[in-house]
Amino acid sequence: MARVQSSRAEPTATPKRKAEHLRINLDEDVSAKGVTTGFERYRFVPAALPEIDLDQVDTGTTLFGRRLAAPLLISCMTGGVPEAERINLTLAGAAQEIGLAVGLGSGRVLLEHPEVLPTFRVRPEAPDVLLLANLGAVQLNLGVGPDQCRWLVEQLEADALVLHLNALQEALQPGGDTRFAGLLDRIAALCAVLEVPVIVKEVGWGIPPDTVVRLFEAGVAAVDVAGAGGTSWSEVERHRMEGEVRRRVAAAFAGWGIPTAEALRGARRVAPDRLIFASGGIRDGMDAAKAVALGADLVGMAGPFLRAADQGPEAVHDLATELIETLRITMFCIGASTLEELRGTPRLVPESPAGLGVATEDLIFRTTGAREFIDITEAVAGVARRSGIQDGIVHIFSSHTTAAIRINEHESLLLTDFQEMLERLAPCAGPYEHDDLARRTGVGPDEPRNGHSHCQHLLLASSESVPLVGGRLALGLWQRIFLIELDDARERRITVQVVGR
Ligand SMILES: Cc1cc2nc3c(=O)[nH]c(=O)nc-3n(C[C@H](O)[C@H](O)[C@H](O)COP(=O)(O)O)c2cc1C
Repeated sequence: MARVQSSRAEPTATPKRKAEHLRINLDEDVSAKGVTTGFERYRFVPAALPEIDLDQVDTGTTLFGRRLAAPLLISCMTGGVPEAERINLTLAGAAQEIGLAVGLGSGRVLLEHPEVLPTFRVRPEAPDVLLLANLGAVQLNLGVGPDQCRWLVEQLEADALVLHLNALQEALQPGGDTRFAGLLDRIAALCAVLEVPVIVKEVGWGIPPDTVVRLFEAGVAAVDVAGAGGTSWSEVERHRMEGEVRRRVAAAFAGWGIPTAEALRGARRVAPDRLIFASGGIRDGMDAAKAVALGADLVGMAGPFLRAADQGPEAVHDLATELIETLRITMFCIGASTLEELRGTPRLVPESPAGLGVATEDLIFRTTGAREFIDITEAVAGVARRSGIQDGIVHIFSSHTTAAIRINEHESLLLTDFQEMLERLAPCAGPYEHDDLARRTGVGPDEPRNGHSHCQHLLLASSESVPLVGGRLALGLWQRIFLIELDDARERRITVQVVGR
């Protein structure tokens, strides 16, 4: 195979950059700022009575023909520099022992410098693991073709090739590879001929649903949304930059990207039956369990495994054990004995940062004539029920100036009294200044003469609020909620907002 020439920079640039990336990731704060994964906005509702034994819980899965003890991936990180050899061997050794999947760093340096193969080669230490080779997708636009990809996979004895999308990182890197035009066609061409599955991932800014669809149409086997909230590559690059202006540009992207949970949900929505992986900011077994519950087939972590590998094999072993044990106990406590049961469980519920939920619905009513009282209590109770909120407040609001919302008793003679009272206080016959169309501006001859409707509305109100207690409207025995038409028959829109937890 012909050696691939470094596209721009001098031949040693890639290894130097790799070494800097490792050092910065280990020594500096490279976490995203102002954006979180979004997993903190979900919580599991314990089953209390799970009706399974802990021993029955099976966290295992099979992917690309390899058995995993848990759906966990040590995300692609490194290779090509001396320190990478120790890290890769440490990670792969733990993956073999425990049964995790493991990814290798970008193989571009290996294509340029085949002599660095020992820094990537982990298969002898990890004969059974699901092993992923890796390459920047943009390399396909810069002379790397299927033959080089095949060579990379063969040298590493990998089960699949991961292409990473890192447009922002390349744009921030001096001399970065930013020629992304036409890349999808090259990905499709590679998928068509490569013998192993092609997976596409981001590096921590997320892949949106429309791109997920295009990638699957191009023939990729899996998409790792690799969203925002964890390691931020603009922050990593900021630490390598010279010049205050460039550093400020990089800093502008510290909060960039699609939160991982959001990217995962979006991908699952548009690709319900395809392999979707989640990574980016996953930091513990609870995050991993939430990711599976939101639809992930495999959950990846990079930064935490790098820091553990830097400490040694025991730290990697401990981290992996902690992740699996947390996942296993979570599954037990919600009564999910398999990953299939965890995936799509109704026991993962969203919660807003303040712990409050808000649900809003518009109800449409067709009224039949002036001073009609429509009892909308059941319709409002239906909105409260659908919201899932148990305790809070239900606000019922009419967005009209001649249709009111009031609470009172539903007794037909009483309703007649109300109608007569309204007619006495603001009689239909008037006169009303508002009905003197000659003196009003901007109205046509068809403008309704409804001064009485507005005046009656002023005596009533546009809204009512009802406490919600234990999922029920806390109305008194005789209280009902009325929409009161004060004008002619028409369509009325009532907004019901439920706020609570
Ligand atoms: C030191 C380091 C090197 C990385 N190198 C690569 C790489 O070569 N290829 C790749 O696809 N992603 C690479 N990544 C990105 C990770 O795979 C992952 O997408 C990202 O770090 C977000 O995950 P995290 O928040 O768990 O760290 C690297 C991450 C780290 C920490």
